[in-house]
Amino acid sequence: MNLLLLGAPGAGKGTQGALLAERYGIPKISTGDLLREAVREGTPLGQKAKSYMDAGELVPDEVMLGLIQEVLTEDGTPDEAVERGFVLDGFPRTLRQAEGLDRLLDEIGRPLDAVIVVSVPDDVLIRRLSGRRTCANCGAVYNVYLEPPRTAGTCDRCGGPLVERPDDTAATVRRRLEIYQEQTEPLIAYYERSRTPVYRVDGDRPVEEVQRAIMGLLES
Ligand code: AP5
Repeated sequence: MNLLLLGAPGAGKGTQGALLAERYGIPKISTGDLLREAVREGTPLGQKAKSYMDAGELVPDEVMLGLIQEVLTEDGTPDEAVERGFVLDGFPRTLRQAEGLDRLLDEIGRPLDAVIVVSVPDDVLIRRLSGRRTCANCGAVYNVYLEPPRTAGTCDRCGGPLVERPDDTAATVRRRLEIYQEQTEPLIAYYERSRTPVYRVDGDRPVEEVQRAIMGLLES
């Protein structure tokens, strides 16, 4: 199953992507997670990406296309990790990235099976992002208002400390939402014009309900 999740910041792409990955035994490829790891490790990619991410801007297309090629392919064939499929979360975000992805998937003979668009109203997105906390140890995602951990500040799964993302400040969130509307939302129409099925899901419901709706569409 080769899946792509599209949606605004805070729509729940990461949350639903992790559930889909578990359900189908395939990797979730989150470009945001890959970039944050690169920033933490201080690699050349991380050094290039950090200022864009902190400002809520997009990392340049050529950097992102290079990164996704590295993750998905190995000498023009699918990378071993994606042999059984993948869930893309956070890529593509621009028309140029979408066209580049199409070429790449064509080259390795792994077209997308479905695009899932998760929609959530802006006021809910802002509340979700301001309450998001992530485990610094295992990456599990919580929300202090909506999906709180059992013990404040501590991960239910591994006991690690929960931290806020630096780009979840009010001003940066506003910029990320603007960029989504200007550059990423038009990709919905791009995929609707393609042969790939596009499923729209109301993401303003409890996590399990959103998950059931997505599975229902994929398995119907
Ligand atoms: P990225 O990490 O991809 O951030 P994003 O797209 O802004 O998405 P988020 O991770 O904020 O939200 P999400 O939809 O995954 O929601 P989540 O499940 O976490 O990118 C970060 C930055 O990296 C970008 O700004 C850019 O600079 C750079 N970047 C990355 N990819 C790039 C690319 N391709 N090109 C250029 N630059 C790129 O949920 C959010 C919160 O809501 C959580 O607290 C969660 O617990 C809660 N929640 C989720 N679902 C529900 C629900 N149903 N009900 C209640 N609460 C819920």
